[in-house]
Amino acid sequence: MSSRSNNGIGMELGECIHNTGFHEVDKPEDAAAGDSESRCSMPPDGQLDAYTQIKPYAGMPKEVLLLYSHQARYRLPREILFWLIIVSTLALVGLTIAVIALSPACLSWWQSSPIYQIYPRSFKDSDGDGVGDLKGITEKLQHIEFLNIKAVWISPFYKSPMKDFGYDVEDFRDIDPIFGTMQDFDHLLAAMHDKGLKLIMDFIPNHTSDKHSWFNLSRSGHEHYKDYYIWAPCNSTRPPNNWVSVFGNSSWTYVEDRKQCYYHQFLKEQPDLNFRNPNVRREMTEIVRFWLEKGVDGFRMDALKHMLEAKHLRDEPQVDPLQDPETIDTEFELHHDYTTTQLGLHDILRDWRVEMDVYSREPGRYRVMITESYDYEEIEKTMMYYGTPYVKESDIPFNFYLLDLPTNLTGDGAQGLVNLWMTNMPAGKWPNWVVGNHDKPRISSSAGLDYIRVINMLLLTLPGTPTTYYGEEIGMENINVTVDQIQDPFGKFNPNSSRDPQRSPMQWSSEPNAGFSDSNTTWLPLHPNYTTVNVEAQQKDSGSVLAQYRAMSLLREMEPSLQRGWMCYVWSDANVFVFLREMDGLDKAFLVVLNFGQDSVLNLSNVKELPEWLTVRMSTRPENDGKMLEKSSIATALGEGLLMEYSTEVRFNPGHASQCFVSEKACYLKALDIMYKC
Ligand code: GLC
Ligand code: MG
Repeated sequence: MSSRSNNGIGMELGECIHNTGFHEVDKPEDAAAGDSESRCSMPPDGQLDAYTQIKPYAGMPKEVLLLYSHQARYRLPREILFWLIIVSTLALVGLTIAVIALSPACLSWWQSSPIYQIYPRSFKDSDGDGVGDLKGITEKLQHIEFLNIKAVWISPFYKSPMKDFGYDVEDFRDIDPIFGTMQDFDHLLAAMHDKGLKLIMDFIPNHTSDKHSWFNLSRSGHEHYKDYYIWAPCNSTRPPNNWVSVFGNSSWTYVEDRKQCYYHQFLKEQPDLNFRNPNVRREMTEIVRFWLEKGVDGFRMDALKHMLEAKHLRDEPQVDPLQDPETIDTEFELHHDYTTTQLGLHDILRDWRVEMDVYSREPGRYRVMITESYDYEEIEKTMMYYGTPYVKESDIPFNFYLLDLPTNLTGDGAQGLVNLWMTNMPAGKWPNWVVGNHDKPRISSSAGLDYIRVINMLLLTLPGTPTTYYGEEIGMENINVTVDQIQDPFGKFNPNSSRDPQRSPMQWSSEPNAGFSDSNTTWLPLHPNYTTVNVEAQQKDSGSVLAQYRAMSLLREMEPSLQRGWMCYVWSDANVFVFLREMDGLDKAFLVVLNFGQDSVLNLSNVKELPEWLTVRMSTRPENDGKMLEKSSIATALGEGLLMEYSTEVRFNPGHASQCFVSEKACYLKALDIMYKC
């Protein structure tokens, strides 16, 4: 054994040379053992020179070979080669790390798909009581798939006395019987996940119903619950201060049992929770966890700016200091210095984001946080919900500014509202756009029928996540609700504020009740136009509002430049708003021309990055689809939208950087001019 190992790998050859690993197979074992002289086999002095004189030859013995290998001309290239391999391996590893570190994260599901809002009372009634329900939603999931939408936000379906149609929650862990059972919910969630759809719940932390067990215990002064709500000294005729409810009148209601008033930012049946009480925070966090455990994909969080109020309870300043204080009864008559956006609000939301992150770790299971806060002209307050580069908060602070488009209905107006968001949004965040919801009139009724299609086109061609309120994809209109038919409590305070008109049942077909319900009556009347404006009819018509919505939704998914590329302003005037979408590394780009005014002909000849001719990929007037238009003469009719495709070598962006925004870095490696799918 030992003799074999002597002949083995890595033998020390005395003072001669190191054997770097060969077997002297032809040497007898006994000779090899112990005879270091013979193993060394170096030529005697004097013969060395002779060796170095001769040229290398085939079959030369290893001794000679080893001699040559030590010569500089053989050693050097060998060493250079060795170091080259080491350096390039390190460089390759470094490059790989750099590409991984620099490349953007792939778009998450809440970025790549529009969000579809379902108002569950009005989507589909499965049990014939005239009110929509969870089973109804499960029945109609095919419609969401047809729209190529992956994310659905469902307005509240918790157990509720329905004073504010579900925004007054009696039990955050239960389903209201009118909507079904917890089993129906589980089925709905499973059915959605089976189809690759995500379910976003409404979460209403600001208040509960006055029928919630916490409030009953609080009202009766129960030790643990007495501070779950906001109570202040007052008497039956005089509230503690001048604060008013969003739904009108004082936001304080007197309770004889406690001889105190409780605070409610909305209805008196919606008492505000006291988030300065750590037990309340803990309870609400547990509710967040409860639904995350069940597997919901995120929350749309309601009325957040109202979550904290100033402890000092001082009067809020009047907008008109000369107004008689006794006449103040609407929210627009006060500056809300003490009842909205109080210090500490964002800490609460960040804690919830941390909870949600715990459930977001598996691939594809990100839980999205959407926040609702109407901050009007104080847009910087809305932007605060995005968090900071280091502390995460909301993924989608709802952008309600496009809701003002109907009152700014011009090309310049549209550009102004888009720009408002893009210039205020913190770097590295993702934009979003809302053009309607259950609190605001439908597009067709606020902007007018002529503008439904162009507003849908704007929504689906801007960078960021669009939100579509059910029915907008078929151009549903507000209904007329007579004063005696009013259901909405806000409408009962002021008929002009009623939100019933935009909450009418979904128009599925021309069957009775538009295929929404088998009942004789529905909770709100149907729009009489349902015989022609309905999903079934529009599915058969390739030029319908629905067909266009769907085509745009598909295109948005297919075209990386529409989904995540640059958006650059090209032009705006009283009639049209023009922008383009392009992406580094892609020749294909899109020019979007949207008409919010009168018929117009546009000359874009001096935009040198555009080719002379562009192809209409999609027009809101189907007869224009596929036409070639010359850039010096782009005609649009009132309310027309054109999505034009062109091919470009010269991109608009670097030359006009101040007019361009990118929502997310593209997956494009400039050095290699490659785009990778992410
Ligand atoms: C939000 C909801 C609205 C509700 C209010 C009170 O603004 O969108 O419908 O009435 O909060 O919960
Ligand atoms: Mg029902």
